[in-house]
Amino acid sequence: MKTLKIKASTGTSKIYIGEKIENAHQYLPGENVVIITDENVKRLYHGSFPSNNILTIGMGEKIKTLTTVENLYGELLDMEADRSTFILGIGGGIVCDIAGFVASTYMRGLRFGFVSTTLLSQIDASVGGKNGVNFRGYKNIVGVFNQPEFVLCDLQMLKTLSEKQISCGFAEIIKQAAICDPNLLNFLETNRQQALSLENAVIEKIVYDSVVIKSAVVNKDDREKGERKKLNFGHTLGHAFEKYLHVSHGEAVAVGMVMATRISLEKGLIDHSELERLIRLIEKYNLPTKFHIDKNHLFDAIRKDKKRNLSHIEFILLHGLGKAVVEKFSFEEAQLLIEKTISR
Ligand SMILES: NC(=O)c1ccc[n+]([C@@H]2O[C@H](COP(=O)([O-])OP(=O)(O)OC[C@H]3O[C@@H](n4cnc5c(N)ncnc54)[C@H](O)[C@@H]3O)[C@@H](O)[C@H]2O)c1
Repeated sequence: MKTLKIKASTGTSKIYIGEKIENAHQYLPGENVVIITDENVKRLYHGSFPSNNILTIGMGEKIKTLTTVENLYGELLDMEADRSTFILGIGGGIVCDIAGFVASTYMRGLRFGFVSTTLLSQIDASVGGKNGVNFRGYKNIVGVFNQPEFVLCDLQMLKTLSEKQISCGFAEIIKQAAICDPNLLNFLETNRQQALSLENAVIEKIVYDSVVIKSAVVNKDDREKGERKKLNFGHTLGHAFEKYLHVSHGEAVAVGMVMATRISLEKGLIDHSELERLIRLIEKYNLPTKFHIDKNHLFDAIRKDKKRNLSHIEFILLHGLGKAVVEKFSFEEAQLLIEKTISR
């Protein structure tokens, strides 16, 4: 097992990579614990849960809403949860985002931690202290920054994910490597087979390296004023693809990264060979590198993305593979760049 620490203005969090769900009880403060999980995770792993009360939510982005949060508040009230209650989220990014938000707001804040059960949530969603839900079609627009006390990343639990869910996790890992870790990029290239089949030593190294990247960024800028924005590489356009094409987050980010790198090429920041190398890596992990989307739909979705300041759009571009820069464009300039790159 490997451990890492996040020390942010929003709290301190310990990440345990390779810890087993069966040991979760050792991290909990006694009896007064409520578990929040989803139906899938409960069906698969109920037998390994700590023996505490369980609240179950549904699955999918459509349940990541204030209605789900309100139902959970009601259930917590019914079971007389109070300030001493500890919330344990067991699940992927959706469970962690919701459980963290409920814990941070019920009675002005309860202690909480996660057992993170998808690759995407282990390397990204459960680490970093962003908790929240979607509202009126805007992703994660209602939420808080607040660190979980601990995150347990049980690598054995990844074995029940589908191939597509594993690939989607790799989209965010490739992103993390592309913005700041050329060594991880090399490792992903040379260990594809072992990585996709979740070979223990290989997946442990990859999850650890990715969490090192994420925690280093969060330690510098936990409230996303500057450095943390780089983690949005591939997301400006990715969110737009997700909204209009209803593709999964990982697939949307994969194509978003390719387009952001094409824009980097257009701006003279990266070589053509580096773009080709990134495309090959994304393909190796069974992810798409291109979508067909009406450019007006794309512009409309970008205009409505909450991450856009009214006067400009921020793109995360690559200044060579392994180094990201945040660049601001007027909407008109961004439109021109997208038009130049969308059809390639
Ligand atoms: N807070 C953040 O910083 C942050 C960062 C990235 C993504 N996110 C959010 O994370 C969410 C996506 O996370 P996700 O991809 O984990 O999705 P998810 O939570 O929906 O999980 C995907 C599916 O896998 C199932 N599942 C979970 N663990 C499993 C396991 N071990 N075996 C088999 N099935 C399992 C779930 O029931 C679900 O059906 C999005 O809502 C996104 O906005 C948040």
